[in-house]
Amino acid sequence: MIIKSIILLTLVVFYSPFINGNPKCKRRLVEEWHPQPSSHVVNWTLTENICTDIYRDCWLLDVNTKMNTSGNRVVPQICPLQIQLGDILVISSEPSLPSPEINIMNVSEASFIDCLQNTTNEDQLLFGCKLKGMHTVNPKWLSVGTHYFITVMASGPLFCQLGLRLNVTVKQQFCQESPSSEFCSGHGKCLSEVWNKIYSCHCQPPFSGKYCQEFDACSYEQCKNNGSCINKREKWHKQGYECICCPPCTGRDYSEIIGQCQLNICFHGNYSNITANSFLCEHEGHFSGKNIC
Ligand SMILES: *[C@@H]1O[C@H](CO)[C@@H](O)[C@H](O)[C@H]1NC(C)=O
Ligand SMILES: *[C@@H]1O[C@H](CO)[C@@H](O)[C@H](O)[C@H]1NC(C)=O
Ligand SMILES: *[C@@H]1O[C@H](CO)[C@@H](O)[C@H](O)[C@H]1NC(C)=O
Ligand SMILES: *[C@@H]1O[C@H](CO)[C@@H](O)[C@H](O)[C@H]1NC(C)=O
Ligand SMILES: *[C@@H]1O[C@H](CO)[C@@H](O)[C@H](O)[C@H]1NC(C)=O
Ligand SMILES: *[C@@H]1O[C@H](CO)[C@@H](O)[C@H](O)[C@H]1NC(C)=O
Ligand SMILES: *[C@@H]1O[C@H](CO)[C@@H](O)[C@H](O)[C@H]1NC(C)=O
Ligand SMILES: *[C@@H]1O[C@H](CO)[C@@H](O)[C@H](O)[C@H]1NC(C)=O
Repeated sequence: MIIKSIILLTLVVFYSPFINGNPKCKRRLVEEWHPQPSSHVVNWTLTENICTDIYRDCWLLDVNTKMNTSGNRVVPQICPLQIQLGDILVISSEPSLPSPEINIMNVSEASFIDCLQNTTNEDQLLFGCKLKGMHTVNPKWLSVGTHYFITVMASGPLFCQLGLRLNVTVKQQFCQESPSSEFCSGHGKCLSEVWNKIYSCHCQPPFSGKYCQEFDACSYEQCKNNGSCINKREKWHKQGYECICCPPCTGRDYSEIIGQCQLNICFHGNYSNITANSFLCEHEGHFSGKNIC
């Protein structure tokens, strides 16, 4: 035990210039989905990209953000990773570690935090051989969700405690109505913020809906004079809106009412269902006109 502590101390002293002088993990708070899978190389080394404070230097987040860890803030670790489902993860042990006798194990969050290696769980080892050089992680370890990988070695949890452990979150996207359709129907971006578990559509107005497939004609404030606007969606690609006229139109005298509903402002569309106090303006696809109730 004493020998172990001395080794630990020596390593901490040896590595601390790197740990303290280490730049914070590079990351963007919002990522856009890339249609082609990419490959991520993680250097399994203590000399770079080791962060210590989960919020401050691992994620660069305010403590008040939506991240939820089990209370521990200080967990030295390799900069945590967020990847897309289908991406390739390569672990590189170059520059080589002091001891090549290590492997990587998939563990629970609690075992990640405490560096608990369960030696009976051989089936949770990521690689069939000891870590040396470049190893591609089998996709079976990278299903959707958060995964925790720690260094295991015969001589104990030392390297894990110093930071040789990795938190990888794999995200999938819900941005396509079908596998062949355009991302966000071509009217938005497929994005994920750090604390989101999935990628989803962020639509450009006037589009809305899960896949930005809905055209929100009313977002243009089509109905003037306090008329209320109702989006009408009958058929695919045929969208329109209905203006229900404002209170003056609800008077008893119909000749007055008709004067309130001005029909000359339904650009690029056809009127239908004209009543005393409402009309329907139907158009195909995009619409950029204004309407007066
Ligand atoms: C990993 O190490 C290689 C070679 O030492 C270096 O070129 C590369 O930038 C490192 N990757 C990261 C993510 O730091
Ligand atoms: C964070 O997680 C703990 C335990 O997993 C839970 O009790 C707590 O409510 C969570 N906090 C938030 C803000 O989600
Ligand atoms: C691992 O990263 C995820 C975000 O990708 C985060 O929600 C989780 O709290 C992190 N776990 C730990 C132990 O830091
Ligand atoms: C990885 O470990 C977690 C936590 O122990 C477990 O739930 C998960 O099933 C493991 N993954 C595989 C592929 O065995
Ligand atoms: C180790 O893993 C085995 C098999 O999953 C389990 O039965 C045992 O309780 C674990 N031991 C510890 C200390 O977690
Ligand atoms: C619209 O309604 C608001 C209050 O609901 C009222 O103050 C305003 O004068 C109305 N505008 C017109 C053009 O009728
Ligand atoms: C137009 O009015 C007719 C009769 O009131 C109604 O059946 C029909 O659904 C209306 N069409 C639209 C597009 O609102
Ligand atoms: C308007 O009606 C005319 C004649 O019925 C038709 O040819 C045209 O396609 C319609 N336009 C729209 C935008 O619905």
